[in-house]
Amino acid sequence: MILDAKNIIKSYKNGQNSLVVLDQCNLSVDTGEIITIMGESGSGKSTLLNILGTLDKPDSGEILLKNKNVTHLSEDDIAKVRNKHIGFIFQFHHLLPEFTAMENILMPTMISGEEENKMDEAAALMAFVGLTSRENHLPSQLSGGERLRVAVLRSMINKPEIILADEPTGNLDEKNARKMIDLFNKINRDYQQSIVITTHSLEVASIGHRQFIFKRGKLEEKI
Ligand SMILES: Nc1ncnc2c1ncn2[C@@H]1O[C@H](COP(=O)(O)OP(=O)(O)OP(=O)(O)O)[C@@H](O)[C@H]1O
Ligand SMILES: [Mg+2]
Repeated sequence: MILDAKNIIKSYKNGQNSLVVLDQCNLSVDTGEIITIMGESGSGKSTLLNILGTLDKPDSGEILLKNKNVTHLSEDDIAKVRNKHIGFIFQFHHLLPEFTAMENILMPTMISGEEENKMDEAAALMAFVGLTSRENHLPSQLSGGERLRVAVLRSMINKPEIILADEPTGNLDEKNARKMIDLFNKINRDYQQSIVITTHSLEVASIGHRQFIFKRGKLEEKI
């Protein structure tokens, strides 16, 4: 098992009110497994992915990454674990504005000083998703869908054991969405990477080996 979330509770406080978003939520992800999560807007999918990816802490419950409990690690230690094992595709991309598309994709490899070795691979990935002529564009010079594709390639470049993808086809047209689905299937097959995808698209959801609906703070498996 690569990732195991147990009894996760998360609430947001707004003045006097508290909104419980995750209510004893459980999810375990096996090696090489694709998991898809659908659910209404505002139900808590992004909150769940942020907690699974250790970017946010639950109020209670535990996150185990490769059987190691990472819930209570220091920020520094968590950041190291995260960079090594987890790739993210954020709903709002979070590209670094002063770096080109190619540099953004290579960002995770710079921390370990491997960017030189990875340039060919980054170029091949860019070709696969139709971004070849955009290598030297800054994020501000890319369309929404192009930025998204850059963010997807950035999440893959280090071949993390698990990729967490928050609505990765949200603003893509049908052809590019299908390309993205192909890419997820390909890396999953080629590298046995696990992928957790949230989506509003039935087509994307259908690639899940296990498919869930997020409802009232919990995941219900679709069978
Ligand atoms: N930092 C925060 N403070 C207070 N409330 C928050 C915060 N972040 C999210 N929320 C609330 O928590 C709920 C879950 O938000 P979340 O972003 O996880 O939903 P989502 O399922 O990802 O929605 P979407 O499909 O629109 O992306 C929403 O009602 C949102 O308003
Ligand atoms: Mg969201």
